[in-house]
Amino acid sequence: ARTAAVIPAAGRGVRLGPGAPKALRALNGTPMLVHAVRAMAASRAVSLVVVVAPPDGAAEVKSLLDAHALPERTDFLVVPGGQSRQESVKLGLDALPPGYDIVLVHDAARPLVPVDTVDLVIETVRGGAPAVVPAVPLADTVKEVDPAEVAGAAETVVATPVRARLRAVQTPQGFERGALVRAHETVTGEVTDDAGMVEQVGLPVVVVPGHEEAFKVTRPLDLVLAEAVLARRRL
Ligand code: C5P
Repeated sequence: ARTAAVIPAAGRGVRLGPGAPKALRALNGTPMLVHAVRAMAASRAVSLVVVVAPPDGAAEVKSLLDAHALPERTDFLVVPGGQSRQESVKLGLDALPPGYDIVLVHDAARPLVPVDTVDLVIETVRGGAPAVVPAVPLADTVKEVDPAEVAGAAETVVATPVRARLRAVQTPQGFERGALVRAHETVTGEVTDDAGMVEQVGLPVVVVPGHEEAFKVTRPLDLVLAEAVLARRRL
């Protein structure tokens, strides 16, 4: 079974502060998206990468990819994205040619995921899991607050889940293509990851060890950390 990776990169990155769309911002001189594409193409199992660009930025993203060296053995497609991450992933899935039975979905905002993590996710889908997520334990204790008060001046705690049972979920998430397509066709409403949709259609989601370098670049401090990781790799 051939494997394709869909990279949603249509977000504006508001939490990162003013500037270009998040995926197009540079890390040590190279756009975050190019790092993310290379991270997927680094796996010998990945033969197609579909980049979902900002709705009005497909041409710009295409020339950006053309301008950077990418592995010869991997094919690339660029499609325009949508208003939500979910919509962007769906548009990427719609663009997948036949023959790709395993699909990875990887945030452009996780540019530094190591190839071993990518390969582990693919291997686990190949082993029969319909959905696979890389995840790490939490450093912080997590509290659930009263939904009526969310983002208010003060919030009241309603529950404290047992930390040892919580996982922070990363990408790439890996799927049997049919399971992911079905999930995107049937699940509506707010979701923040693709595996959550597969979970809602009643299929098992398997957790494998993620990696600390697969963190999501969200806030300005994350840019500092990402550039430090890149600098260390070049040593
Ligand atoms: O906003 P967040 O950090 O959760 O975004 C995760 C990923 O989803 C990013 O790579 C972002 O570019 C992408 N995204 C998208 N289309 C949107 C919103 C986010 O492709 N409308």
